[in-house]
Amino acid sequence: MTTDSTQRTRVLTGITTTGTPHLGNYVGAIRPTVQASLNPATQGFYFLADYHALIKCDEPARIQRSTLEIAASWMAAGLDPERVMFYRQSDIPEIPELTWFLTCVTGKGVLNRAHAYKASVDKNNAAGNDPDADVSAGLFMYPVLMGADILMFKAHKVPVGRDQIQHIEMARDMASSFNHLYGEHLVLPEAVVEESVALLPGLDGRKMSKSYDNTIPLFSSSAQLKKLIAGIVTDSRAPGEAKDTEGSALFQIYQAFASAEETAALAKAYAQGIGWGDAKQVLWERIDREVAPMRAKYEELINNPAKVDALLLMGAAKARDIATPFIKELRHAVGLRALASVGTAKVAAKQARAASPSFKQYREQDGQFYFKLVDPQGKVLLQSTGFTSPKDAGTAIARLQQNTQLAFSELGAQLVLAEDVSMDLVLVAIESLVAENAEKAQAKG
Ligand code: TRP
Repeated sequence: MTTDSTQRTRVLTGITTTGTPHLGNYVGAIRPTVQASLNPATQGFYFLADYHALIKCDEPARIQRSTLEIAASWMAAGLDPERVMFYRQSDIPEIPELTWFLTCVTGKGVLNRAHAYKASVDKNNAAGNDPDADVSAGLFMYPVLMGADILMFKAHKVPVGRDQIQHIEMARDMASSFNHLYGEHLVLPEAVVEESVALLPGLDGRKMSKSYDNTIPLFSSSAQLKKLIAGIVTDSRAPGEAKDTEGSALFQIYQAFASAEETAALAKAYAQGIGWGDAKQVLWERIDREVAPMRAKYEELINNPAKVDALLLMGAAKARDIATPFIKELRHAVGLRALASVGTAKVAAKQARAASPSFKQYREQDGQFYFKLVDPQGKVLLQSTGFTSPKDAGTAIARLQQNTQLAFSELGAQLVLAEDVSMDLVLVAIESLVAENAEKAQAKG
């Protein structure tokens, strides 16, 4: 088991569902993220931050439409929901629960300093309004919800834009505070800011952004794309006059799609006085060449929202294989526990026994010795291949309980995860089994 999730770096990022993906999103986020998701040394968590969308948007139809468009765009651009976790935030009820746990370990003063909230307050102050005029508690709590997104899945790396670095730092602080109070449960994440990705200019030459109304949608038809490209600002130089690549939005957009040779060729054409109409034709053809194959997949998905729903629900199920046992662990850590466990250790141990996973050893017809890990409901989580002696099988079980991670790498292909079962789930199961054994040993005195 060389690629088990315990060894892979977990990379997580969220996409707020308030808009329609445009070329700037594609070049700046979708394309590099999809590329990175193919790295076998990482495990990707990509989610539609629809709870976050509610902070900025109170139009239900727009939230719904945007969720569909963004999900379809990312998958059309190559994000493989089988390979990564791709889910909607609102399909993971453990996230709002963790948000509350984190809320209770986060200083209000810390949130006062969060950029988005502070910007609103500064604006109100400048206008002579009440500092909190029109500021929702949702905006104020935004960083905590984001912290829960990240900490829920023990993400190591969080690729974000510069404006989000502060939020990742806050998530680290929340994790530290929580761990300090309740034990080492949460992993401290790190922000990753990709410096090299292109910032795309929009139709008017300013940064492509919904708020400037200067965007080119990623998935418009080929004809619409051509029409929009025709609207990119240029100067008034006539065909035959040399053009500047410097400060040319058209050139910069081209560069974000073209190879180095193609870019050099266009630079040459600029120097030789290519007409703006011809340059726009070149740009259109280049973008269309990259987008056309994805467009077919996008159309298929956008016209089949039930399929998108199903894929996202599959992603949510995988994500909850991790989130559900983890929130259980956290609930226990903070003291939201079964009340019976207050009672005698004996009672507690007995109950734990009934509610814990266990290893079962057995012999098959082939004469070999096997074991499996089953959960309290009898569902198989982990299955071994055959061992020649019962002692070897027993040693493997013991190793798994002594040093789980090491045992996994030593036993390698001799351990097979059951279908639909994540590595994290198995780790939590073994952890709780070990904890229970320790408790039992202690109770015995
Ligand atoms: N706030 C992020 C943005 O606006 C989106 C987001 C929500 C996010 N939760 C996250 C990003 C968790 C990274 C990790 O871009």
